[in-house]
This record gives sequence, C-alpha cells and structure tokens, in this order.
Amino acid sequence: MSDDQDEAEAFRALLRGLRVPHAGDLPVFDPDTAPDAPLPLFRRWLREAAESGEPGPHTMTLATAGADGRPSQRTVMLHDADERGWHFGTHRTSRKGRELTENPYASLAFHWMRPGRQVRVSGRVGEAGPEASAADLRGRSPAALAAALAGSGRQSETLGSYEELLRAFEAAYERAGREPDATAPTWTLYVLEADEVEFYQEEARRRHVRVRYLRAPKEPGGWRRELLWP
Ligand SMILES: Cc1cc2nc3c(=O)[nH]c(=O)nc-3n(C[C@H](O)[C@H](O)[C@H](O)COP(=O)(O)O)c2cc1C
Repeated sequence: MSDDQDEAEAFRALLRGLRVPHAGDLPVFDPDTAPDAPLPLFRRWLREAAESGEPGPHTMTLATAGADGRPSQRTVMLHDADERGWHFGTHRTSRKGRELTENPYASLAFHWMRPGRQVRVSGRVGEAGPEASAADLRGRSPAALAAALAGSGRQSETLGSYEELLRAFEAAYERAGREPDATAPTWTLYVLEADEVEFYQEEARRRHVRVRYLRAPKEPGGWRRELLWP
C-alpha cells in the first residue's frame, strides 16, 4: 500500500474509533411530559447542558441561504430566547446578514454532547431594531465591543493582510476603552421567530426520542407536538 493509502486507512480507522462522550447516564426524555410550547423545554435543556459542564452550551450553528438557495452555516452565540424568539447578534453586511436580507428564513442547531441532546429551531428572522442592537452591544464585554467596532462593515470581506486586522483592532480596543457606549453601525440584533422546534434525546440503545413542535395557532399553547422516527 502507498503512503497515501495508509494515511487514508488510518484516518478511516480513527473515525471509526471515535465516540461521542456523554457525562454518565443519559437523561430519560418522556415525550408525554413535554410542555405544550417549546420555549420552557428549550430553556430547561440549555440550563441542564450548562449544569452538566457542557462547554459553550449557548453556541449554535446558524444556517442561512441567500437568493441562490445555497446554504451556508457558522457558529454564533445565543443572546436570549424568549416569547419573541431566539436572539443573536452579527453584522448586517456579513455574508449571513446579506443572505438574511435576500431570504429571511434560517435554522439554528444546538448540540449538547454531555446530556446527548440536539435542538433544531427554524423560522423567519427579523431585525430587533437599532435601539435593541445598540443595547445588545452595550451589554457585552469591552473585548466584544472592540471586535464589533473593528468588524463593522468588514466582517466576511476579503482581508488584505493580518497586519491590517491588527491595526484595525488596536484602534478599536482604544476606542472601546475610551467610549464604552460606542455603536458599531452594522451590528444588528436578530430574532428568529420559530415555526418549528425539534428536540432530540439520545438513548443508550439508539432508541432516540425526537419531539417536533410545529406552530399551530389553534392548538393549546399555539403549538402542535408530534414524534419523529430517529
Ligand atoms: C464559538 C464561536 C462563537 C461565535 N459567535 C459569533 C457571534 O455571536 N456573532 C458573529 O457575528 N460571529 C460569531 N462567530 C464567528 C462566526 O462563526 C463567523 O465566522 C462570522 O460571523 C462570519 O460569518 P459569515 O461570513 O458566514 O457571515 C463565532 C465563532 C465561534 C467559533
């Protein structure tokens, strides 16, 4: 076998040998006990993920697709989840921001390995407005403010050199220190108003539990709930 084939086989063996780490026994999810609406369950699962020691349980994958229909995804942070929806912040001029302008439908995915859980949230995304966006930025750390100032109007653009970025950050750190209420013009708080939320609980013998909520204004709590094959 050639070195390339050896390396390819070693890589496949590595993948076959990997396991998803859980923190002890997996929780049992009895779908009959699921609430009428997804928000309380989502908040409970996020809290339990944090309590389980899951690193960064508030990070999520955001999938968008522009007018060409080709999906793209990236990790972003959840800033809140309430009756209005799931909140995240980014630059309106970034790739995701541009795609959301072309097509406001998006999907979020959380994966919490320690409790063996996944949540998918899909729906229409809207802007929370300039005041809420500025307040979102004010509530963040000086380092996050500096990053937003440096990235304003630039995120997702081609960067000429890393030195260019270092210079922009030096100016942004200095400004964030001097002006903690500074606003980054393109920083935008977005809210995804869910019409579908799916909860997935792993089970040791792979009899995983999937519960999907679909928005149904006439149902109790405004949602219909159903099971899915895993
Ligand atoms: C853990 C983690 C958290 C992140 N959180 C955010 C965030 O809250 N907002 C953001 O704009 N980018 C965040 N990013 C960067 C994005 O993943 C992405 O690289 C950036 O927003 C540009 O995406 P785009 O070119 O698809 O628009 C985060 C990255 C990581 C690894």
